[in-house]
Amino acid sequence: MTTVIDGNETAERIEAGVSTCATTLREAGVTPGLATVLMSDDGASETYVSMKQQTCEELGIRGYHHEIDPEEPASALFDRIDELNADPSIHGILVQMPVPDHIDKADVLKRIDPMKDVDGFHPENVGRLVAGNARFKPCTPHGVQKLLAAYDVETEGAEAVVVGRSDIVGKPMANLLVQYGEGGNATTTVCHSRTDDLAAHTREADILVAAAGVPEMIDASMVGEGATVIDVGINRVDADTEKGYELVGDVDFESAKQNADIITPVPGGVGPLTIAMLMYNTVKAASLQSGVPVDLP
Ligand code: GUN
Repeated sequence: MTTVIDGNETAERIEAGVSTCATTLREAGVTPGLATVLMSDDGASETYVSMKQQTCEELGIRGYHHEIDPEEPASALFDRIDELNADPSIHGILVQMPVPDHIDKADVLKRIDPMKDVDGFHPENVGRLVAGNARFKPCTPHGVQKLLAAYDVETEGAEAVVVGRSDIVGKPMANLLVQYGEGGNATTTVCHSRTDDLAAHTREADILVAAAGVPEMIDASMVGEGATVIDVGINRVDADTEKGYELVGDVDFESAKQNADIITPVPGGVGPLTIAMLMYNTVKAASLQSGVPVDLP
């Protein structure tokens, strides 16, 4: 029998722990604050940001939402980031990606105070992660690590194959799996669009993380017997539904399930963890900035 991972259950447990941290901080006079900045008309981005704001409210974190017209120049976004950097009631800043084409993403990430960079995308935080001294682990790969731990999937000595090399998921995921310590020590391979014979790599994986952004690209023929399959993909594909689309992962679930021992569904797998880990990083940021200790889940 294949185990289907329940991401909502794990996320709720972590969020309960984060909520306790938020209470500890508030009782010490520090209300954790997260600012989200949206500079996009994209429906999916709007949905993600509003889900993040809603979770803040549920966990006792104060959410501040900022929208900037995507036609505005880069300076409008940079000025807003500068204000948020200087505002002591804001402990975490998240600029929803992607930003418009006329803005250089790297300039945005560098602009955010690294102590408030709850995405973990600032070069200083990326460097710390690679060096094995992470301050803010990027939310989605950190969530994958939490799921693997929750389902007792041993990473030490495992063959881990990450499909996708994005800055948001693929690269930090590989960096987490390869580091010393708990949730790491895996023999880690990163595959991508230029990989020769992708299936030959994925079939060897004990832990296969699909994060390529290609709908249902991983099927049973690419999954080794007994593997743990983690699907990070959230792809909108046209469908005859009320909304006109449905969400599918990078894994063909029904097919891959035939070989996998453990597998995440989409939705309800990795997705809920991304928000939980953002909340985790926000209370961690508030704790680091205030000096009030918290017991992170
Ligand atoms: N867009 C898609 N995923 C993310 C994320 O984790 N953080 C930010 N800031 N933008 C995203």
